[in-house]
Amino acid sequence: MTTLLEVGHLSKKFVSGGGPFRPVRSMHAVNDVSFSVSVGRVVGVVGESGCGKSTLARLILRLIEPTGGSVQFEDLDLLAQKPKPMRALRARMQMVFQDPYSAIDPRYTIRDAVTEPFDIQGHRYTAKEKDAKTAELLDMVGLSGHLANSYPHQLSGGQKQRVGIARALALNPALLVLDEPTASLDVSVQAQIISLLEKLQDELNLTYIFISHDLSLVKYFCDEVLVMYLGRVVEVLPDTEAAARHPYTRTLLDSTFDPDPRLRRTIEPLAGEVPSPFDLPPGCAFAARCPSATGKCSTELPVLSSDGGHPVACHHPL
Ligand SMILES: Nc1ncnc2c1ncn2[C@@H]1O[C@H](COP(=O)(O)OP(=O)(O)O)[C@@H](O)[C@H]1O
Ligand code: SF4
Ligand SMILES: [Mg+2]
Repeated sequence: MTTLLEVGHLSKKFVSGGGPFRPVRSMHAVNDVSFSVSVGRVVGVVGESGCGKSTLARLILRLIEPTGGSVQFEDLDLLAQKPKPMRALRARMQMVFQDPYSAIDPRYTIRDAVTEPFDIQGHRYTAKEKDAKTAELLDMVGLSGHLANSYPHQLSGGQKQRVGIARALALNPALLVLDEPTASLDVSVQAQIISLLEKLQDELNLTYIFISHDLSLVKYFCDEVLVMYLGRVVEVLPDTEAAARHPYTRTLLDSTFDPDPRLRRTIEPLAGEVPSPFDLPPGCAFAARCPSATGKCSTELPVLSSDGGHPVACHHPL
């Protein structure tokens, strides 16, 4: 399998505060994360709200600069790219957001929204060429060409997300980073968007990073899954049938499992104390919530290791 993306020891430290009454505080939203993605795969990223999923997505696309680590995309060192080649590279990697219209001017028509990426890249298409591109993109995502002159407020949530996907596809990307793309949609609409993504992947040979806090959706859709806890990857499930080795993953699976897919699909806050991300303990960040914790866990940081099975960062894997 050809590697498309290689992330090495990626970290992002946020510093806040400063001034007489606000002490400077810092936290690692993403901490020493390494993984690789092969062409044509769907890699899931799961974890509770605030664990660093969106920050990781932004780092991968270099929408924000990391404080450490590396990103190789199509064998290029992303972080070494100057603005102009970086802009060209950006066409190859696109993001789809939960709320596709958060980044689009509400006064834009659908046609404006899906053709804006061409303007950003400096393509000077005529109005006629833009009409043709719009028709082609809307067709790809299963929307009627008649919607081209509509405004976002005239569309349903599912239709808006289709526009978000069309916009992401405009520049022929190799990689889509999907950041909770179905989180605000009804279950039936979610299913339609997922089957659209499956169809597009087949047709366009796309590779996906699929971020979600819906584990059952991830299990259905993804080939492999990264489990994040407080900025770190704690387990890499090589396939969706793999049994959890990390106690945190096990707890997540237990808390979200329900035979009825409409119930308890998303990650609920788990019981137990979550350490402050500004003041992490020296050992395992999950120790205060972990039924298997020992003394070693509170003093020694577990690192990802493949001893005895797939990669897990735990002193006492299941
Ligand atoms: N620009 C920022 N400045 C300071 N802290 C941030 C910033 N962006 C995110 N964070 C913090 O980083 C952590 C991870 O956030 P995020 O990546 O959005 O998590 P997730 O997407 O998993 O919910 C959170 O504690 C969040 O408050
Ligand atoms: S390292 Fe220890 S505390 Fe952390 S998950 Fe493993 S057993 Fe639990
Ligand atoms: Mg997020």
